[in-house]
Amino acid sequence: MTQTDPQDGGGGVASASDTLTVTDNRTGKSYEIPISDGTVRAMDLRQIKVADDDFGLMTYDPAYTNTASCRSSITYIDGDAGILEYRGYPIEQLAENSTYLEVAYLLVYGELPTQQQLDWWTNEITLHTFVHENVKEFVGGFRHDAHPMGMLLGAVGALSTFYPDGMAIGDPASREIQTIRLISKMPTLAAFAYRHIQGRPYVYPDNDLAYPDNFLSMMYKMTELKYEADPRLSRALDILFILHADHEQNCSTSAVRSVGSSQVDPYSAVAAGIAALYGPLHGGANEAVLRMLRRIETVENIPGFIEGVKSGNERLMGFGHRVYKNYDPRARIIKSAAEDVFEVTGKNPLLDIALELEKIALEDEYFIGRKLYPNVDFYSGLIYEALGLPVEMFPVMFAIPRTSGWIAQWLEMTQDGEQKIARPRQIYTGERTRDYVAIGQR
Ligand code: CMC
Repeated sequence: MTQTDPQDGGGGVASASDTLTVTDNRTGKSYEIPISDGTVRAMDLRQIKVADDDFGLMTYDPAYTNTASCRSSITYIDGDAGILEYRGYPIEQLAENSTYLEVAYLLVYGELPTQQQLDWWTNEITLHTFVHENVKEFVGGFRHDAHPMGMLLGAVGALSTFYPDGMAIGDPASREIQTIRLISKMPTLAAFAYRHIQGRPYVYPDNDLAYPDNFLSMMYKMTELKYEADPRLSRALDILFILHADHEQNCSTSAVRSVGSSQVDPYSAVAAGIAALYGPLHGGANEAVLRMLRRIETVENIPGFIEGVKSGNERLMGFGHRVYKNYDPRARIIKSAAEDVFEVTGKNPLLDIALELEKIALEDEYFIGRKLYPNVDFYSGLIYEALGLPVEMFPVMFAIPRTSGWIAQWLEMTQDGEQKIARPRQIYTGERTRDYVAIGQR
């Protein structure tokens, strides 16, 4: 078997050494399989057979832990080094210098906008923040205690019925307007869901306000003529939006791509992404972190809790990541944004528990050995709580900015000639060719 450096890929013409020689010990036959970009094509294994009528060798990868499902030029992650880049720009620089809307443009179009492009984009997003009046009615149809993520999921899926032109996914102009609609309406739908569970009247978008300020206005405005958020809070929120905008082929993005591969409209595909993000191992983790911190209650209870984690009875929520085996770069930025927020709102008492948990976990062999570090969700919940949000809103706060990532990935997929409808294979483990047994004889 020849070996190549996985970083050596590059996608150029494969040289003789850019191959993998495999010997099938069942038959003694050898096969030479091309290596490109540090990968072999699973379909190249299909030629490996024990007999002519054999289906051929497949790969088995139930959670896609070692399978690339697409080629993408949107987000780069080096999990061992703790690097995250959008279109080549380090997340730290974007969080420091950019705005969420500029980052959304970058993700969607591939380049940072000129001033003129940014003005056009900001204007387009601002002009599409309103939703059809009927949307208010169906949001109003949910129970008073409905989970806002479930409401968002339903509302975004329903948008496909308001914009049937979204089905024209082969038309670039249609793709662009759906992109704008999704990014601009998501905060409105999220705020409506929040106001519904609070029993408060819905607040319409204010087109004079920047994206995060408008969202805070729709969330919190009461009788004042104009809602003015503290600029430190709206900036912290914008930074959180930047950090959550994309994260390459995670569970929800894969869901968007997988559902979108059926050529359904982007509202339905993004609704699938929201459904995936709802789960506690994904976007629901920040909610789970807050519940965990509340349950721990005091710093004194931490050692007992850590013992529970190590004996497998608990999970330290907000720790660990499928890709990062180092400190999640987003967690570091969020930790510092949290300090800015607490300057305005006063310190969240759960912060002390979080800091102490992190300190103990980073020194403990169980977490060190498994490379478990704080992820993006370990501190984000504390900020959301300081902003006055109930825990149920936390995954919704993740879905708002991730929309730009989902739609950028969806756009990339629709223009990728290699993509087809997603359809994995299986290893069948059930019975075969049984005769039907009449009900009285079972
Ligand atoms: N607490 C305690 N042990 C853990 C944790 C944790 N949070 N995460 C992983 N482990 C252990 C796990 O039990 C396993 O141990 P062992 O080898 O003894 O069986 C080992 O570490 C490897 O874990 P894994 O479950 O195989 O790792 P994974 O890649 O399948 O899971 C994860 C990744 C994020 C689902 C997991 O780390 C986890 O459940 N974390 C808590 C939930 C969380 O914070 N999720 C947010 C992820 S970041 C935001 C997002 O992208 O949505």
